[in-house]
Amino acid sequence: MADIHEHGGRAGMINMTHSEPDPRLIPADAFWDCLVSLRGDATAHVQYVSPQGDALLRASLVDLLDERGVSAAADEILVTQGVTQGLSLVTQALARHGDIVAVEQPTYLGLLHILQAQGVRPVGVPLDEEGARLDALERVILHDRPRFFYTIPTFHNPTGRSMTLRRRRDLIALAERHGLIVVEYDIYHRLAFEKEAPPTLKSLDRRGLVIYLDGLSKAVLPGVRAGYAVAPQPLLDKMLSLRRAADLCGPLTLQRALAEFLSRGLVGEHIERILPEYRRRRDTVLKALKKSMPAGTTWTRPEGGLCLWVRLPGNLSAGDLYGEALERGVVFAPGEVFLAGDGSGSARSHLRLCFGRHGPEDLSEGVTILAEVIRRGASAGAGRRRTVPDHAPLV
Ligand SMILES: Cc1ncc(COP(=O)(O)O)c(C=O)c1O
Repeated sequence: MADIHEHGGRAGMINMTHSEPDPRLIPADAFWDCLVSLRGDATAHVQYVSPQGDALLRASLVDLLDERGVSAAADEILVTQGVTQGLSLVTQALARHGDIVAVEQPTYLGLLHILQAQGVRPVGVPLDEEGARLDALERVILHDRPRFFYTIPTFHNPTGRSMTLRRRRDLIALAERHGLIVVEYDIYHRLAFEKEAPPTLKSLDRRGLVIYLDGLSKAVLPGVRAGYAVAPQPLLDKMLSLRRAADLCGPLTLQRALAEFLSRGLVGEHIERILPEYRRRRDTVLKALKKSMPAGTTWTRPEGGLCLWVRLPGNLSAGDLYGEALERGVVFAPGEVFLAGDGSGSARSHLRLCFGRHGPEDLSEGVTILAEVIRRGASAGAGRRRTVPDHAPLV
C-alpha cells in the first residue's frame, strides 16, 4: 500500500506533506544539555511520576500558559504525551461510541484517526475567511447534539488560516447560549510571522466551556512529546483516571529535562531564532506560487504555522495529481484526507503544502514542479491516475 510518509522520507524527495519542523532547526543540543544537567541526581530522575505530570514542569507551564492569556494553577494542568494524547483523553472523557462531535471541515487528520478509533462520528463545519461558520455550527448543535466542537483557531491545520477576533467572540457567545463545550488546540501559535497570534478562545471564556490543549511539538521539540491540557476540575479528574489506565504516567526524565529547558528561558530564545527562517520559507512558497501557478489556482496566505491550502483550477482533484507529482519528486497532502464524514465539500480540489521541512531553494523548486503537474493535469483532464494513498500517516 502506498504510504505518504514513506514517499516523503525518500532521499531526494521534496517533502511538502508533513506539518512538522525542520530537524535542522530543532534545539537538540540545548535539550541534551538539559538532560545531561540531570545526571548529578540521576536516580531521582528515573522514578515514576504522577499521572498528572511532574510538579516542576507544571509550575513552569503556568507561565507559558499565562503568555496566551490562559490562567491556570499548576494543579489544573495535565501533562500529556503530545497534544495527541490530550485529544484522545478529552474524546474518551466526553464522548461514547456512537456519539457525534463537531469538527472544522477540513480538520487535523490525527483527530479524525482518534475519533475513528473511538467510534465517535465527526460532523464537519465548513470554514470561511473568518473561521468556522457559526450558522453551520448552530445547525449541527440543534440537529446532531454534538458532545463538543474541536477547533484549531490559530494558524489552522490544514488551511493555515486564523479565526478572526470577531468570530472568536461570536463562537464563545454561541457556546454559552447552547452550553457547548469547545476544545481548542493551539499548537501553532508560537509560529506567528507577522504579529502576535490572536487571543485564545480560552482567554475569552468566562463560563469554563473551553478546554485548552497546547504543546511544544511544532515549534520546538516534536520527539519529546510535550503536550499539556487545561480543563475544568471534574473533567481533568476523568482525564487523569483515563491517563492512568492508558500508560500510568509519562517519562519523568523527559519531563524534568523539559522543565529545565523552560526554566532556562530556551523556548522564547529558540522561537526568536527560528521565526525569521520559517517566515522566509512561507514567503518563498507564496512567491513561487504567484510566479508559477496556472490561472484559476488560489491559495491561502497564512500569518503563521507551517502550512497553506491550495485550491486547484477547474475541476481538478488533488488525488489525480499525486502520482505524477510523486514521480517528479514532490509530495504533498491531498485535501480529501482532511475531510470528516463522507468527505463532501470542496476539499478534494485542494491540497496542503507544508513549508517546515525544506529550505527556500527546495521549496521554490517543489512549487515550480507542482505547477507544471497541475498545468498538465488541467490540459489532459482529471481522473487519469488516482494513486493517492489509502492510508496516510500525516500530521
Ligand atoms: C492541529 C494539530 N494537533 C496536534 C498535532 C500533533 O501534536 P503532537 O505531536 O504534540 O501530538 C498536530 C501535528 O500536526 C496538529 O497539526
